[in-house]
Amino acid sequence: MTLWNGRFSSPMAKSLWDLSESYSFDHVLYAHDIAGSRAHVRGLAHAGLLSGDECAALLTTLDAILREFEDGTFTRDESDEDIHTAIERRATELAGATGAKLHTARSRNDQVATTLRLFTRDAVTSVARDILTLLDALDEVGATDPGAYLPGYTHLQRAQPVLLTHHLGAHAWSLLRDVERLIDARERMNVSPLGAGALAGTSLPIQPAFTAELLGFREPFANSLDAVSDRDFVAETLFALSMVGIHLSRMGEELVLWTSEEFGFATLGDDFTTGSSMLPQKKNSDVAELARAKSGRLVGNLTGLLVILKGLPLSYNRDLQEDKEPLFDSLRHVTLMINALAGAYRSMTFHAETARRAADDPNLVAIDIAERLVQEGVPFRQAHEQVGQLVGEAVRRGGSLLDVVEQSEEFSRFADLFASGASLNARTSPGGSGPAAQTEQAERLSAARDRAAERLA
Ligand code: ARG
Repeated sequence: MTLWNGRFSSPMAKSLWDLSESYSFDHVLYAHDIAGSRAHVRGLAHAGLLSGDECAALLTTLDAILREFEDGTFTRDESDEDIHTAIERRATELAGATGAKLHTARSRNDQVATTLRLFTRDAVTSVARDILTLLDALDEVGATDPGAYLPGYTHLQRAQPVLLTHHLGAHAWSLLRDVERLIDARERMNVSPLGAGALAGTSLPIQPAFTAELLGFREPFANSLDAVSDRDFVAETLFALSMVGIHLSRMGEELVLWTSEEFGFATLGDDFTTGSSMLPQKKNSDVAELARAKSGRLVGNLTGLLVILKGLPLSYNRDLQEDKEPLFDSLRHVTLMINALAGAYRSMTFHAETARRAADDPNLVAIDIAERLVQEGVPFRQAHEQVGQLVGEAVRRGGSLLDVVEQSEEFSRFADLFASGASLNARTSPGGSGPAAQTEQAERLSAARDRAAERLA
């Protein structure tokens, strides 16, 4: 059915229908739309607009429709334009004249805003939970070899040795901020638009605060125009998901490097790698490459929505219907990325010996010599210069910094700094990569994770 037969003398053109119908993608909102309608029905009864019997009949009807969706027996009528129309049409079929009262004091404009907030509230909770599972996977990788270390890089040039747990912890902190961001977004979106009507409220005696409370919203909207036109919460969610995607893309890139023969720091399990249709020897980290690539569509979805919202006049405009597909797409792909990466990390073998050899590169000791000189009272800039000359000498000779130091009368007392792991153990400053500092930050990380999990619950 179209919902406005009274006004029109001809049916909608097929090309307009094809352009404007949204059931094909918004049917996934059925459970949240029914939840919103259940609260609306109880609100109408509370306002004296439905009798107790009518309210009970409509609630039973909505439950029956929910079951039809869940067991796959709900059938779309060819005239159902969107999920809201479909449910109202079915309610009227099942409950007759009472069904025709369902949409009293409500517009699809406040209805869709309510439904989408309920849906997004659940969806961000679920993504945040998945991220916490990925954090657990990172934790497990670190725990397999707590003493393992690798070179830390800047500009992708070896810089200083870092513990594997320190390195993975850096990813964990960024993902934990994503969890916090999703929870922050959830708190901001937790306001009910139900009762705003088409744009200006209604003359009927409904109480938006009553339905807001039934739906677990923190409060009802304050301004009806804002209630039906605000999609900040979708944009904010898409930003938070893009940030997750970008963090995962950096982790993906790192796995591509680590699993290359050139680095050789890690191998992924056979169940998380793919072969080549032509080259029998290949074992490819497609999982990491796809994680790297999918961030593109997440950013695209965010950008697309922002452009849709830009310049829209108050209040509801049909443009807003275009908020859903980017949201659904980003949620789907970010979830795929998180779960596959968690599996890939769990399947990973870290080659601690290869990583250690790379991290014990004598050049990485240069800063330790400079810092020892500082402890002896040499101003840092001079110490930097002196050690720089030693490095330059090693480069000119094509030899190792250790050889130059050992052969130098002035600096041979620093040869002990080149012992395997010595540089790592010297990183004692809080938050740094040394073992003691790492133990402390691991505790901070796990406390922060628990706080986020508590906020999420
Ligand atoms: N399917 C529509 C949407 O997603 C529902 C609201 C339609 N409202 C309207 N006035 N045409 O935005």
